[in-house]
Amino acid sequence: ISLKAFNTFGIDKNARFFITIKSIEELKQALTWAKSQNIKPLILGGGSNILLTQNQDTLVIKIELVGVEMIQETENFYFIKAGAGVNWHQFVLTAIENCWAGVENLSLIPGTVGASPMQNIGAYGVEIKDVFSNLTALNIDSLDLENFDAEQCQFGYRESVFKHDLKGKYVICSVVFRLSKKPEFRIDYGAIQDTLKTSGIKNLSLKAISDAVISIRQSKLPDPKEIGNAGSFFKNPTISADQYQLLNSEYSTIPGYPTSDSVKVPAAWLIEQCGWKGQRFGEIGVHANQPLVLVNYGDGDGNEIKKLAARIQQSVFDKFKITIHPEVNFL
Ligand code: EPU
Repeated sequence: ISLKAFNTFGIDKNARFFITIKSIEELKQALTWAKSQNIKPLILGGGSNILLTQNQDTLVIKIELVGVEMIQETENFYFIKAGAGVNWHQFVLTAIENCWAGVENLSLIPGTVGASPMQNIGAYGVEIKDVFSNLTALNIDSLDLENFDAEQCQFGYRESVFKHDLKGKYVICSVVFRLSKKPEFRIDYGAIQDTLKTSGIKNLSLKAISDAVISIRQSKLPDPKEIGNAGSFFKNPTISADQYQLLNSEYSTIPGYPTSDSVKVPAAWLIEQCGWKGQRFGEIGVHANQPLVLVNYGDGDGNEIKKLAARIQQSVFDKFKITIHPEVNFL
């Protein structure tokens, strides 16, 4: 079966076996079957953070565990449990409708609830870890359901334990979010303020912020339904304050965001300076509004995108002596 419809890059590679699962029981059966065949299954959520470079000679398991429910309420918070297969943006819209605050800045991020803790998704000043309570994951080996709190998830910038020590060992089944009854609007991000201003919004609301984020994203990021992509292809690198100073003396316009012991530099800027912005090579290219995003115009090949990514990395290194790392998982 072709996986083209199951990855937002729209890469046409096949899976040897494919199953959609709608319950934990079905998931256990699929994993048991895979074990009996001695194959290591590939777990798929929204397919929005992968680049397929080859056919998948395995069982691809598409997680469609659904449901959103409030499981606990305290003076200040709602604890909301969502199935791993729930579409992320639908979850955000449900939260906004119910006045559950905390995820409005994360509007319109492609993918599913189950994939969100995997790489600690983030945008416009908010990361999933800020609203995360705990998650339930199925241990692929023992088939036991296990609970992980935030500390156990070891969240970092686009990182969690599930991308490292526990890679390939668990299937995230549901996530509990701690959403607030009293919104704290986070509008530090310049573009949000500008958008609110131009649309003449005086009273902040979850909906107003969500709408602002949606309009920013729509203006910069390609819609995967129209042009294949997986959002930011690279992570933003951090460099030492010394290296930043040095670069700044040569490139006075280089942007930099100081963190506690280093400076984060937008990969988009580095890539643009290397002349890649808007470049098209046949069926693939670098997006014209956000060079951090690589795109598939239709019939692109995963390996060609991988090669393009390597050329971009090399040119950034040659010019700035900075290594940028992919955020997307190569399969
Ligand atoms: N920039 C350029 N040229 C461009 C675009 C951006 O030089 O064409 C520079 C500018 O200096 C700009 C800076 O890059 O100020 C930051 O750009 P932007 O606000 O678009 O954010 P980003 O750092 O490129 C990150 C996330 C996005 C997230 C936005 C907004 C990563 C890898 N990416 O991008 O996440 O939406 O911030 O918070 O951290 C994703 O992970 O898939 C993703 C889209």
